[in-house]
Amino acid sequence: MRKSLVAGNWKMNGSRSSVDRLTGGILSGLDTGAAAEVLVCPPHAYLSQVAAMVDGSALMLGGQDLSEHESGAHTGEVSGVMLADHGCTHVIVGHSERRALLGEDNELVARKFIAAQKSGLTPVLCVGETLDERRQGVTIDVISRQVEAVVTAARIAALGSAVVAYEPVWAIGTGETATPEQAQEVHDAIRSLVATHDAKIAADLRILYGGSVKGANARELFSMPDIDGGLIGGASLDAEEFLTICAAAA
Ligand code: PGA
Repeated sequence: MRKSLVAGNWKMNGSRSSVDRLTGGILSGLDTGAAAEVLVCPPHAYLSQVAAMVDGSALMLGGQDLSEHESGAHTGEVSGVMLADHGCTHVIVGHSERRALLGEDNELVARKFIAAQKSGLTPVLCVGETLDERRQGVTIDVISRQVEAVVTAARIAALGSAVVAYEPVWAIGTGETATPEQAQEVHDAIRSLVATHDAKIAADLRILYGGSVKGANARELFSMPDIDGGLIGGASLDAEEFLTICAAAA
């Protein structure tokens, strides 16, 4: 049985006071006995603030990105070691906004995936197709290349301590959600692809859905057999809404 995971990606949002309210709100409503794990990924600037608040709670902490390097002359970058030093257990790798806006390609994403695991972090590997790619009917090809690049570089065993997030680019922040059936089809394809390498790792792999998940649509999405939780952007900035999504995954 795979344990559900709900991860909040706060992106570049918040202030010291709003981060305080949001974290406090989530902590006060978090069902500690719930079957789902809950993770928040604040901006790096607020990691230590959130780390101090979640210390000793069931709420897990993650980074939104990391450098492929461990340390050194890489101005503005944050290493996996630094994230782990702040109490992070997870880090998002290859988010589509970074792939699109910062030109991160499959090979760089794979190196970041490896760097994350080297630092003791669980990578949350994001994959997903653009609207154009979906229209051209190449969704599964695109996602296969994204997953295979990591398998080639990191080896299949590495997926045994990772999470995958399927995030169709056209559904991120647009209010347009993949239907549960559309998402399930891709989740199933990802699991089948991983199973061609290792059936046990595929069966245990948690695959999250991301892209305009809200309290109102979470339960339907999470009820699909291969959807093991969600990666939540906009709706994770509202404690009540986020907790509704967490409850839907439990
Ligand atoms: P969204 O973002 O929930 O705002 O669509 C999801 C994500 O980018 O991880």
